[in-house]
Amino acid sequence: MCSFDSEVFAAAGQSHLLRRLDQLCGEQADRFQRDLAQLDLSCMQRLWSAEDQGEVQTAPEPPTLVELTDRAVRTEALSRGQALLAEGKVACLTVAGGQGSRLGWDGPKGTFPSGPITGDSLFAQFAGQIERETKRYGQTVPWCIMTSPLNHGSTVAFFEEHHHFGLDPSTVHFFTQGVMPSVDRESGEVLLAAADAIAFNPDGHGGTLRALSRSGLLSTLRSQGIEHLSYFQVDNPMVRALDPVFLGLHIEDSVSSGEVTSKAVAKRSADEKVGVFGVQDGQLTVLEYSDLDQEVCEATDDDGKLMFRAGNMAVHVFGLEFLDRLTNGTGLPFHRAVKKVPFFDDSTGTVQQPSAPNAVKYETFIFDALPLATRPLVVEADRAEEFAPIKNAEGSDSVQTSQLAQSARAAKWLAQSGVQFAQGAEGQPAAQLEIRSSTATCPADLALCELPEKLGAGERFLV
Ligand code: UD1
Repeated sequence: MCSFDSEVFAAAGQSHLLRRLDQLCGEQADRFQRDLAQLDLSCMQRLWSAEDQGEVQTAPEPPTLVELTDRAVRTEALSRGQALLAEGKVACLTVAGGQGSRLGWDGPKGTFPSGPITGDSLFAQFAGQIERETKRYGQTVPWCIMTSPLNHGSTVAFFEEHHHFGLDPSTVHFFTQGVMPSVDRESGEVLLAAADAIAFNPDGHGGTLRALSRSGLLSTLRSQGIEHLSYFQVDNPMVRALDPVFLGLHIEDSVSSGEVTSKAVAKRSADEKVGVFGVQDGQLTVLEYSDLDQEVCEATDDDGKLMFRAGNMAVHVFGLEFLDRLTNGTGLPFHRAVKKVPFFDDSTGTVQQPSAPNAVKYETFIFDALPLATRPLVVEADRAEEFAPIKNAEGSDSVQTSQLAQSARAAKWLAQSGVQFAQGAEGQPAAQLEIRSSTATCPADLALCELPEKLGAGERFLV
């Protein structure tokens, strides 16, 4: 029967879970016991009593960014980064374990159709880039994809159905992040998702660290000679998955320790939902938008610019040695978020859909690794070239805004190759455009393509 210590559950304020177990038998009881065994009650207790929140921190200051205006610095970084890729020392890491609830897409976010003409999925667009760079550098680029227990099966099935988008399946590595229970925001009691199941949520992309190590993937990558991981989120089809200039800066001794390098874009406005880079207690950090004071968010400098305008693109390169060190450390701090979480109501025996936020979710964030790094670096990137995430069903950061940005970038690249366009009312190209990521990851790649001289209004052009 039950091997759970009732005193431990009582001390953690979670006795209701054992009372629930008592009401179950057979398979349901077995299932629930497996859920109970996953709980770390002392961690839950510590989080609830907020002992984990740490000391009050000093007011943040804006960070110093590396701007790539100096041609010589850029050229040197480019050749260093290209050499690193040609030596086969870089792998990609995509975090795709989130629930994507804002998008309202029924499936893993990476399966969302994002190509403006092809309707290619986000995963297909990243795969195309990896294929392009694999051909360019003549080296395999392992691709690590973090899923969660909630979307692992459907993610792997999608890749199988699409024959891994032409990539060698042995180079695509799926690994699953951990989960944390959601708790009632008033009582701190762990919520149930069903009569025999705890309401678990993915433990945040900070869970990457433990999951990479526990899955054995860190060791596998090391044995393959990988030294750095190019990290990006599943929601940004314009990301440069393997950017040689960025990689080259990351390994430049005079500016970086090669532990972590991040990309920033200038924030559009004070209320754009991106984290910002800042320096707090002398350490580079990301101040997450949901945790940021309005005052800090809106503060401007003498030029009237947002003081904290270096938006976190969620694009980083991590040195493998640094990740090793982190996975052996105390772990990243948890952030709490108050959310609506459906829950099983014991008194009625039904699942309730709350109309207001009822639960606290706990997550760790990968960017909390930045303050733990020696000499982390932030490099400024061009939004029009690299950042058009798909987060919402409509409005800002939706598929519409992302596809417009993808077409605008395609127009810019094609124009650089001499293609002329009929123009729309606001000076935008009147043709519909898409450059497949497997064709070109930078404008120079278009030199290999057959291009038209001119594209008229309403024409569609896919290359
Ligand atoms: C995120 C960043 C924000 C940044 C912005 C850029 C966080 C907390 N904030 O905001 O600083 O400026 O992107 O677009 O990340 N994920 C997992 N497992 C999880 C949770 C999330 O893999 O448990 C993945 C998601 O699949 C997604 C990414 O992490 O790829 C971002 O998650 P999301 O919660 O959508 O972050 P944002 O609020 O958009």
